[in-house]
Amino acid sequence: MSFTLNFSSVRSCVNRRKNVSRSFGLVKRRLSGGKSSDVKTRSETSAGKYFVTTPIFYVNAEPHIGHLHSALLADASHRFQKLRSPGIKTIFSTGTDEHGLKIQQSSVASGCDPMVFCNQVSQKFRTLFDLVDIGYTEYVRTVEDRHNTAVGHFFKKLKDNGHIYRGNYSGWYCVSDEAYLTELQVREVQLQSGEKKLVSAESGHPVEWNSEDNYMFKLSSFRQDLQYWLKDDQRVQPERYLQELRGWVSEDLHDLSVSRPNKRVSWGILVPEDSQHTIYVWVDALVNYLTVAGYPDQMVWPPDVQVLGKDILRFHGIYWPALLMAAGLDPPNKLLCHSHWTIEGEKMSKSKGNVVCPKDRVERYTSDGLRYFLLREGTPHSDSSWSDTRAVRLLNAELADSLGNLLNRCTAQSLNPHQQRPPLCPQYKGNMPLAGQKLVEQLIILPDLVEKHYTNFNFYRGIDVIMAAVRQANLFVQEERPWELKNQTDRTKLDSVLRVALEAVRTAGIALQPIIPKLASHLLDATGVPDHQRCWNSMREGFYNTNQGELSTPYKLGSRTKLFGKIKE
Ligand code: ME8
Ligand code: MG
Repeated sequence: MSFTLNFSSVRSCVNRRKNVSRSFGLVKRRLSGGKSSDVKTRSETSAGKYFVTTPIFYVNAEPHIGHLHSALLADASHRFQKLRSPGIKTIFSTGTDEHGLKIQQSSVASGCDPMVFCNQVSQKFRTLFDLVDIGYTEYVRTVEDRHNTAVGHFFKKLKDNGHIYRGNYSGWYCVSDEAYLTELQVREVQLQSGEKKLVSAESGHPVEWNSEDNYMFKLSSFRQDLQYWLKDDQRVQPERYLQELRGWVSEDLHDLSVSRPNKRVSWGILVPEDSQHTIYVWVDALVNYLTVAGYPDQMVWPPDVQVLGKDILRFHGIYWPALLMAAGLDPPNKLLCHSHWTIEGEKMSKSKGNVVCPKDRVERYTSDGLRYFLLREGTPHSDSSWSDTRAVRLLNAELADSLGNLLNRCTAQSLNPHQQRPPLCPQYKGNMPLAGQKLVEQLIILPDLVEKHYTNFNFYRGIDVIMAAVRQANLFVQEERPWELKNQTDRTKLDSVLRVALEAVRTAGIALQPIIPKLASHLLDATGVPDHQRCWNSMREGFYNTNQGELSTPYKLGSRTKLFGKIKE
């Protein structure tokens, strides 16, 4: 049966996205001609779950800062959603992409059996993510049986739904990108030796000519559906990447070759009922998101946000939604596409070898130090250039000096002999100096403002807001000179000053949990904030919502050591 999902069916599917099972049922019925569905989704609305993914990384080489960056964005978002909606059901998936020609060639070059090779490198990604507290709930590997089943089922679905045909494909193949390129996507470069070579215009990796019979996916028939999906201004963030995708979709959409002759690419998943062909590694890889959702059995679908780098935007913003629609499934709710970390103006990349090793940097900066720097300096909309000098200066200035000093000042035994968050006196609150008033204003707007930035994956902006409040708290303490107040017999003012400053520490501690979980927990332990008062809403006690009398209640401080040791330049 041949069937192309038309504009109106996608529109209704997109409109009904809030009720996953209903929208899915609708698309499904149309595709299967009313036959009962063999896939069920759990009926969970967006409000009750959070499903976030990272790309799955090739195991051709060890992880670098760029891979960690994607994982961190997803991790920070996942932690934030859990703080905002305690008890929420979540899936946070990451993992490794282990099939295809690129991995086949790398394993041959390493002299290892491909499975042994994949096991080793996949474990390196996992070890790194564990080291840096990436709290994934699913670590998927494309060599797993559950994935094999999902891919086979998915491919068969595409075929049964009439979106696959046999054809001959000729074109330039880029092994490093695992993609066929058109004439326009290829350019000639001259090597130092004088020899000329063709490379991918986008990635700079070499291409080779290939001509072979394979299975083709009717991508070209999905233009309107893709355009409709991309109509939503929030679909892809930041906006520049949404515009880029809209441009690509309105250009020529070529059908996609979705298999390779098994003779040439044997390291992969076979096309169902045709052992002569291996499924194209990108189709195999994209299906990982379905595998972690439980496909083809009961599943949670679609993902709320899929995080990816700009190098693989076309695969996630065109091929992936089209493949999903062809299989009768909803495309993802949102793509968060981030820019690259560069070194001396060039993209940091495994194949170029110009990488910064995350394990070394964890040793030097600690895991939270590295997390902080990556999320503080890595902006989604433009490339960031890696600099160790900058990392050292920033971490020393913000974590050791600003945050560490503030904590020390308000918890030091000499100023705070009862080791409390002491009560704030209402008279003092009504007569605060300007620096104090400004701090209070900042603390009041902080939860909403940071929530907005974190929701939009602009973690750097959220951190900016938090650090501005921390700096203001230090200015306030400087101005109120608590070291002089401690000599007065009436401790009311000293207590009030300490409580205001400790409110800044408490607020920063809660808001920084998604960014630097260990240090934030240290801040909250030190200021005696119990576990059940660490969720996002708890920030709104205190100055935000003063009628609870929260600020006149004293709390015992907890144990504390040095927050963040200065790093030598
Ligand atoms: O493309 N800066 O895997 P990959 C920031 N297996 N992020 C970077 C980066 C950099 N310099 N370099 C890599 C693949 N990344 C496929 C994905 S998904 C179904 C299959 C991050 O190992 C970024 O997220 O080449 C980028 O998209 C991804 O790693 C590519 O990793
Ligand atoms: Mg790559």
